[in-house]
Amino acid sequence: MDLMDFGYYQAIAQRAEAAKFDSIFFADILTMSDDAAITGKVWLEPITLLAAIAGVTERIGLIATASTSYSLPFNLARQFSSIDHISNGRAGWNIVTTWLQAAARNFGDTREVSLDERYVFAEEFVEVVKGLWDSWADDAVIDDRVGAVYARPDRIRAIDHEGPQYSVAGPLNLPRSPQGRPVLVQAGSSNTGRDFAARHAEAIFTAHLEKATAQEFYTDLKARLVKAGRKPDDVLILPGVNPMIASTEAEAKRLVKELNESADPEAGRRTLSSRFGGYDFSHLPLDEVLSPDDFPHPDTVEASRSRAVMVVGLIERERVTLRQLLAKLAGARGHFTYAGTPEQVADLLEDWFQDGAADGFNVMPPIYPGMLDAFIDEVVPILQQRGLFRTEYVGATLREHYGLDRPPDGFDATD
Ligand SMILES: Cc1cc2nc3c(=O)[nH]c(=O)nc-3n(C[C@H](O)[C@H](O)[C@H](O)COP(=O)(O)O)c2cc1C
Repeated sequence: MDLMDFGYYQAIAQRAEAAKFDSIFFADILTMSDDAAITGKVWLEPITLLAAIAGVTERIGLIATASTSYSLPFNLARQFSSIDHISNGRAGWNIVTTWLQAAARNFGDTREVSLDERYVFAEEFVEVVKGLWDSWADDAVIDDRVGAVYARPDRIRAIDHEGPQYSVAGPLNLPRSPQGRPVLVQAGSSNTGRDFAARHAEAIFTAHLEKATAQEFYTDLKARLVKAGRKPDDVLILPGVNPMIASTEAEAKRLVKELNESADPEAGRRTLSSRFGGYDFSHLPLDEVLSPDDFPHPDTVEASRSRAVMVVGLIERERVTLRQLLAKLAGARGHFTYAGTPEQVADLLEDWFQDGAADGFNVMPPIYPGMLDAFIDEVVPILQQRGLFRTEYVGATLREHYGLDRPPDGFDATD
């Protein structure tokens, strides 16, 4: 498997589309992972990849991460609007506020930026991008070849944004895209992250090690939406699930154990440190039971605060050693890992879906392509039989797959 081979991604996207998935999502971090030389963990730039995948697929949604900390609003608005045009309305942007110090060094950024500041910057960034996406009315283009008029100037407007971070005149230099705006996805679960999501997100990725915290997150987020003047159905909450599937539960659990034991605990210790903003865990023995005191208080973590809350919460609940903690985080990085038969996996998804923990799932197969194939060939048919998953695409755009409204362009109606 060559991660520089487009064919690898094309095959996964076409497989997921054949199974009628809503979307395929490509994460991204703006630095080389420090174990890349060993693990080969390299990847193609996601927005470029989406453009290529758009050309070999027809219905599946195309979501990629892009950073509000190290991108410029005009460029990013143009890139995702272009993906939406190229894909006939299938683009989605996962908004991240990059917290990795290693990434900051790739942009000459030596500032000490707090979590709250990152979200303040992101707020302005997203407002500018939305303004640029709405800078052409849906009916601006008339394309009158005889009259030699492509668009009506009165239906295109500058945004003239002047803010603390950005000064952007606009308009965008291409017409409004098929979805109006690409779908806005977000994945921060801290208190500040949740408020940001309640204002802007249309789909939310979230990581939970247990159903109870997923239910708490779901209920809290839906309530924040209403407070922000939106409807609960305006956002889909999609917890990550990492399903190891086999013909018996014992076999599935054996595969998880084998996979986790192949993970390098020292690489895991470094990843854990980066999530806690570089906190040094090198003194902790691997096989002694951890205490919450071994960790900085999550409220003081300016990096991945919600992950810090999840890790310390796990240690408060369970007597785990560092090795066991790293094994839990190794594959799914804190998302729900489940090992079982196809029926058991289907039961789990149905239970979370029916019991207020999820509107859907971010399926993260622990092994590619094997566990994606197992999920598609053995779990999806069960969900379809239970009437829980589509058998055919009805819509053509990501918004239609998600059941989301198309945002109006904000222009006055023409006479
Ligand atoms: C499913 C999922 C996908 C994510 N993808 C990315 C990503 O591609 N790049 C990134 O830098 N952060 C990614 N994150 C991290 C979040 O953007 C965010 O930084 C993290 O959840 C901490 O946010 P918080 O401090 O508001 O809780 C992802 C998180 C989740 C749950």
